[in-house]
Amino acid sequence: MQRIPVAGPWITQKEIDYVTDAVANAWYENANMYHERFEKAFAAYVGVKYAMALPSCTSAIHLSLLALGIGKGDEVVVPDCTWIASAAPINYVGATPVFADIDPETWCISAESLEDCISPRTRAVIPVDLYGSVPDMDSIRHVARKHNIAIIEDAAEAIGSEYKGKCAGSFGEASVFSFHGSKTLTTGEGGMLLTDREDLYQRAAVLRDHGRQPGSVMFWNSEVAYKYKMSSMQAALGLAQLERIEELLERKRQQFEWYKEELATMDGITLNAEPASTRNAFWMVTIVLDPKFGLNKTQLMESLSQHGIDTRPFFHPLSSLPAYEDSKWAHVARERNAIAYRISPYAINLPSSLMLTKTQIKYVCDTLKEVLSK
Ligand SMILES: Cc1ncc(COP(=O)(O)O)c(C=O)c1O
Repeated sequence: MQRIPVAGPWITQKEIDYVTDAVANAWYENANMYHERFEKAFAAYVGVKYAMALPSCTSAIHLSLLALGIGKGDEVVVPDCTWIASAAPINYVGATPVFADIDPETWCISAESLEDCISPRTRAVIPVDLYGSVPDMDSIRHVARKHNIAIIEDAAEAIGSEYKGKCAGSFGEASVFSFHGSKTLTTGEGGMLLTDREDLYQRAAVLRDHGRQPGSVMFWNSEVAYKYKMSSMQAALGLAQLERIEELLERKRQQFEWYKEELATMDGITLNAEPASTRNAFWMVTIVLDPKFGLNKTQLMESLSQHGIDTRPFFHPLSSLPAYEDSKWAHVARERNAIAYRISPYAINLPSSLMLTKTQIKYVCDTLKEVLSK
């Protein structure tokens, strides 16, 4: 029997046709044709003015911080449970990440946990739309406004999610998406930076192009900066996927419904939340186990793996990682972030590939029930 993968894309002839066209024709004066179409369509989809296609979401966060002028001596608040890519760029620019606790329902940062982390040095917050869930953006924006701090929305995992009818990725001064191979919309590797602010967009454009001013003399750099560009083959793949976005999102929701139906009879399992104000695009179907089962995430993953099922651990709190061992704020977070430390050890992401069938989901759920009944 083939193993059931934890994530993976849905590629059709349309994607193959667009990439084939890009590799044959997107050169010379047409080198940017797919970037332009992808960026324009993506900005329109999310409802934001400017979009910049980049090699990764990590580079999009890096550029956002730089364009906002954040650097040495500044603090940036980030939820404790997220992929390290949300926080590492804070270190790249010489600022300090401060790890906020998560909300027990959405698993995202809350206004209260943000407020707990604010100091006179705080310049920004990076709320993360974890696994497709969206935090309570109104209250987060209220706190951000009150303390005059910028929001960089990390919507890496949340294409298609909504809060009060607006798309995830439209709530910050800047917002970012990932198109890594595991994501609902993929370009293999890739990312997007979005903003409504022309000044941020223009600054990011210079920073991502080795410090060249748009339209300046060739090979004339006004500062030392970065080289962050997506290839046209990736942009073509992204455009094809974006043109199919409703179909991709419908399938994710269908898969979540199948999981929900199969697990409805199980006590002690909590699935991804969808509060009334949000629409969750369910990037990764996630379960939190009641500790009464006596199994932690590592043991559960191991048991499922023995049955050919690949899963992922819920993110370990960043403050628990060796990478942040020497951080003062990690020490504070370990004491303070009770919810992150309560949920993370007992939660995993179930298989969420776009090609997953109803039969496979039933097999995953039957196996899970069997493992938990022992
Ligand atoms: C929440 C979050 N932020 C940032 C990233 C970074 O994305 P990329 O791998 O495209 O740099 C990811 C990627 O998985 C992510 O899940």
